[in-house]
Amino acid sequence: MTGVDLGIPLVRRTTDTSARPDTSQLVDRFGRVATDMRVSLIDKCNLRCTYCMPADGLPWLKRAELLDTAEMNRLIRIAVEELGVTTVRFTGGEPLLRQDLVDIIGATAALPSRPTTSLTTNGINLGSFAEPLVRAGLNRVNVSLDTLDREVFKQLTRRDRFDDVLDGLAAAKKMRLEPVKVNAVLMRGINDHEAGDLLRFCIERGYQLRFIEQMPLDAQHDWERDKMITAAEILDRLSAEFSLTPDVAERGSAPAERWLVDGGPATVGVIASVTRPFCAACDRTRLTADGQLRSCLFSTTETDLRGPMRAGADDAELIRLWQETMWAKAAGHGMDSGEFAQPSRPMSAIGG
Ligand code: 5AD
Ligand code: SF4
Repeated sequence: MTGVDLGIPLVRRTTDTSARPDTSQLVDRFGRVATDMRVSLIDKCNLRCTYCMPADGLPWLKRAELLDTAEMNRLIRIAVEELGVTTVRFTGGEPLLRQDLVDIIGATAALPSRPTTSLTTNGINLGSFAEPLVRAGLNRVNVSLDTLDREVFKQLTRRDRFDDVLDGLAAAKKMRLEPVKVNAVLMRGINDHEAGDLLRFCIERGYQLRFIEQMPLDAQHDWERDKMITAAEILDRLSAEFSLTPDVAERGSAPAERWLVDGGPATVGVIASVTRPFCAACDRTRLTADGQLRSCLFSTTETDLRGPMRAGADDAELIRLWQETMWAKAAGHGMDSGEFAQPSRPMSAIGG
């Protein structure tokens, strides 16, 4: 186990699975069923977003610590074919930095149960990868773009790669990786004046914009509740420029609350993880690049699958570990409770 247990009774690992119903699915004690798997393929990134990691980067996982192609493919197959996972989302760090990304997506898309596949990327290099990814069977992308101002982009990501991201987005649209979703995080005094511009930009190009509240998952632990731009604030700002009406389409387990913009059909989403948590409807199970299972972004414990796998565990053993981990999933992240503890791993090593 590489996760550090901070001893805070938020996510209590329970091995008592006696009440667990006899199902292969990833059910938990609160009636949720995890069908959406997030796979972090690599913890490295070619940007250094200030809300994510320090300027010098982080001590990256070593190659031998990362699951290799066959190990990744094996766990994805088990999730999809044995545990009822229907959507596989690839993330990082920056997943396009992983050399075998196209192979892994190809193997996932070719599984008999044909899961939906998506990629959460910063968009750099998507210009050249969109076509091979589509050929491999990728269905959708989420691209992070926080600003339309090249100078702000440089300041926020500490890299001068704005045009690469725009190229990546355009390639995704051209290759019909739709809906092309854009994720934006607003930072006070940096890009919070751009909410309306970002929305217009996305609507004009047919991208679906979603704002994400900044979460306490930065490696530097700089996050402060009072500094965060809340969903309410984002909606206020947008309402000054657009007429927003709630999108009545079923939200289901989707984290974004959506609004129709000026009567629709364009929409805007807000992912209010902090101020309006959606834990009760969560359907996620997470795998890190080094083979650790997490039931939640905010888990303070992890279950090691890499060790057992490398020691020769059969599928049945991995299935049991996975089911037990999800059964123990906490009801919620408790971010607004006094007991909340930031997980020891940053977002870039868990996967967004
Ligand atoms: N809070 C909210 N969103 C974050 N992201 C990265 N770090 C944070 C954070 N601390 C976003 C990225 C990307 C997605 C994977 O998550 O901008 O769009
Ligand atoms: Fe990289 Fe995403 Fe972190 Fe930015 S937020 S540094 S793009 S992992």
